[in-house]
Amino acid sequence: MILPIFGYGQPVLKRIAEDIPADYPKLDQLIANMWETMYNAHGVGLAGPQVGLALRIFVIDTEQVKDDEKLDVGFKKVFLNARILEEEGTPWSYEEGCLSIPDIRGDVERCPTIRIRYQDEHFQWFEETYSGLNARVIQHEYDHIEGVLFTEKLKPLKKRLIKKKLEMIRTGQILPDYKMRFAVRS
Ligand code: NI
Repeated sequence: MILPIFGYGQPVLKRIAEDIPADYPKLDQLIANMWETMYNAHGVGLAGPQVGLALRIFVIDTEQVKDDEKLDVGFKKVFLNARILEEEGTPWSYEEGCLSIPDIRGDVERCPTIRIRYQDEHFQWFEETYSGLNARVIQHEYDHIEGVLFTEKLKPLKKRLIKKKLEMIRTGQILPDYKMRFAVRS
């Protein structure tokens, strides 16, 4: 089932998400719905708060962005109860976007390598290292479960330039090509 994606300005996007207990009802269904919602919107990642749930869950598929120049990318995983343990290296800039903030893109600086601890969909623990674009997508989705949006990490000039557009999204004065739930109904 395709779920509505919560748009910029929705309070749930600013909350620090809570851990998902192992007995969370119908988790399989939620995960299936998140995949379907993400692919329908042509995204590479989707986090719980983006479907209105302040829960520490995100799904990522970077296999979709794999090409001749980006051979390092490519995994499809569910992350539950993730904690980034370490981020290191010289920050690098890359243009990001977000399904909750359609039609806005901007350069965000992030560390190139991370170490993360998380549970998979069977609640088995993993501790892994990621780098490059894989790390970046994780960092972006991880920010979602910490209540942070990529637009908050843009340079001050860029922030000013997108202010009006953000207000249009907040108040639902846009027409995305997927189902959204706006903070203010237009
Ligand atoms: Ni996002």
